[in-house]
Amino acid sequence: MATKKPEIITDKNQMRNWSRAMRSLGKTIGLVPTMGYLHEGHLSLVKQSHRYANLTVVSIYVNPGQFSPSEDLSSYPSDFDGDIRKLMSLSKGVDVVFHPANLYDYKTYKNSNDINDCKRSESGNTGSGVVSCLEEKGIGHETWVRVERLEKGLCGKSRPVFFRGVATIVSKLFNVVEPDFAFFGKKDYQQFRVIQQMVRDLDFGIEVIGSEIVRDEDGLALSSRNVHLSPEEREKALSISKSLFRAKCSAEKGQINCKELRGLVIQAINDTGGRIDYAEIVDQESLEAVEEIKSPVVFCVAAWFGNVRLIDNMEISIHN
Ligand code: PAJ
Repeated sequence: MATKKPEIITDKNQMRNWSRAMRSLGKTIGLVPTMGYLHEGHLSLVKQSHRYANLTVVSIYVNPGQFSPSEDLSSYPSDFDGDIRKLMSLSKGVDVVFHPANLYDYKTYKNSNDINDCKRSESGNTGSGVVSCLEEKGIGHETWVRVERLEKGLCGKSRPVFFRGVATIVSKLFNVVEPDFAFFGKKDYQQFRVIQQMVRDLDFGIEVIGSEIVRDEDGLALSSRNVHLSPEEREKALSISKSLFRAKCSAEKGQINCKELRGLVIQAINDTGGRIDYAEIVDQESLEAVEEIKSPVVFCVAAWFGNVRLIDNMEISIHN
């Protein structure tokens, strides 16, 4: 049975006013930040929010600040009406969907030609697309949040502006929505850790909750990007989760040598024609690579299948 339609708020001041009004009534607010094209992974975060908070806000905003010019901002999938339907299919609904057209205030700056220039020349820039272009021109957005150490490894190596874009937009969302709780999937493990660290370092009064990875029945981690995989690529991409599960099993049986475990996963992915970006076993807290599994680790993988870059990971803890 469908629940009531969420209130859709597009204006950030209206969003903040709503939150403040609810908090003054003693309600707690859970925020689930997303870029839309929702799937069961996102919905699991909404269900978590129902457990923790009185009211739930889902933000849907494809953040230009976290894409580099060579990445897939323009082809990022979207289906706003479908997203609302999915949210309404939950047994407990969502109170607000925050869906701003633009969260960077460059429209209020001097010359709209500059904005068009930046949009047109996006492919020629080195930063994070239109937002960085405007920054280079000295107009618009120029404040960025960087979690300096955690943002560097893993995905940060091939996506140098990604985490500054994520940390900045999540800070903005926190400032606009003023939630009590915020929910992030461990599917994006490094992102989850970056946000946890940011909240701690900058004293946001928000509890960050990490949620387990939701997978398809065959093991593939759900992702908005899976829609771009051909059926053959999708089949091949199963090599990531299958080999990660095998590695976890081996580790639990006593294989704690990370070189061996990484070799197993790298070979499985290469054998199917996937291209590895990285396959690293890192400490769950510091995200630094380890040679042997002695403390809780997470085995993180990023690999390309065709034009689609997928990430997945597996937490591994050895109990002696
Ligand atoms: P997006 O990719 O839409 O993901 C939104 C949230 O859903 C993230 O916290 C992500 O980790 C979680 N998620 C995605 N797939 C999942 C799965 N299979 N299982 C569990 N959780 C899953 O991540 C972003 O958007 C953006 O970077 C954002 C945080 C919104 C900032 O722009």
